[in-house]
Amino acid sequence: MNNNAGERTVLVLAPAKVNLVLRVLDRRPDGYHNLWSLMHTVGLEDELHVRLTAEPDASSPVRLACDDPTLPTDGRNLVRRAAELVLERAAAQGRPVPGVDIRLTKRIPMGGGLGGGSSDAAATILGLNHVLGLGWSVSEMAKLGESLGSDVPFFLFAPCARVRGRGEDVAPLTLAGTRWVVLVNPGFPIETRWAYQRLAESRRGVRPLSAALVTLMGRDRLSWNEVVPLMENDFEGALAPVHPALTAIKTELLLAGAEGALLSGSGATVFGIFHDEAAAVRARDLVGRSEGRRAFAAPAGTGPLTCG
Ligand code: C5P
Repeated sequence: MNNNAGERTVLVLAPAKVNLVLRVLDRRPDGYHNLWSLMHTVGLEDELHVRLTAEPDASSPVRLACDDPTLPTDGRNLVRRAAELVLERAAAQGRPVPGVDIRLTKRIPMGGGLGGGSSDAAATILGLNHVLGLGWSVSEMAKLGESLGSDVPFFLFAPCARVRGRGEDVAPLTLAGTRWVVLVNPGFPIETRWAYQRLAESRRGVRPLSAALVTLMGRDRLSWNEVVPLMENDFEGALAPVHPALTAIKTELLLAGAEGALLSGSGATVFGIFHDEAAAVRARDLVGRSEGRRAFAAPAGTGPLTCG
């Protein structure tokens, strides 16, 4: 582990997230929806190696390689976009901008509601802030990340936060206790934009926040025992009729002993909360064995993203 500022190479672990609560509220004039979410990181992590190189490549200052050939490494890749944004901002602040070499190892399923792309983007900003010695605060980095994706700011306040607005209003929270999370991906992706459309078509109006969630608003310390009974996700009801596999996985996780089980984000991953590793591993093996599924057991995240 090396945390010296100015270190030229850095490893950043980019965790997955789950939404313990995801309420989708009114549509905003900018086309996005106001959210009320309680988010938590999970120790299933992508890996980013960020290295400064003396000379930027002639075509781009950012060189990106990824072990998963299905993920484009061009301008659609959030890591590339995050790195270019950081370098642009650094240059605007009058700093010398070198070349950057990034190696991305993917473990988080893509299109799974686990925030993998957003986490990678947040990790890129954090890693570059470190190797370039930029000295930006967490809030400055989160602000920069907003334009890349709604979940990016959250990851800079990991492991747990209440998230509102489009995703930019992040209040970190302490969730007391430890838990294990089983993530079960059904083997198909769900596109976020489509899920929001489906939600809009399938509901008459926006249900107000429950009194219990309103009460949580003012708290900065909660326990897992308090939160698990409040787990809910507005996308579940909208997506279940189209994808019965989601309900099946949820039921199987509960039968396998989960304290709570829920769709994460706009899907398609469904997760279960377990007391300990042994119970989580048992459930992963049981629920994950159906064909096409990919399942993981990992501890709930315990700390902020760090550079090592
Ligand atoms: O920002 P992100 O890339 O995660 O959003 C993907 C899509 O999800 C947006 O284009 C929008 O259709 C929808 N979305 C939304 N309200 C949010 C977040 C996302 O409507 N708060």
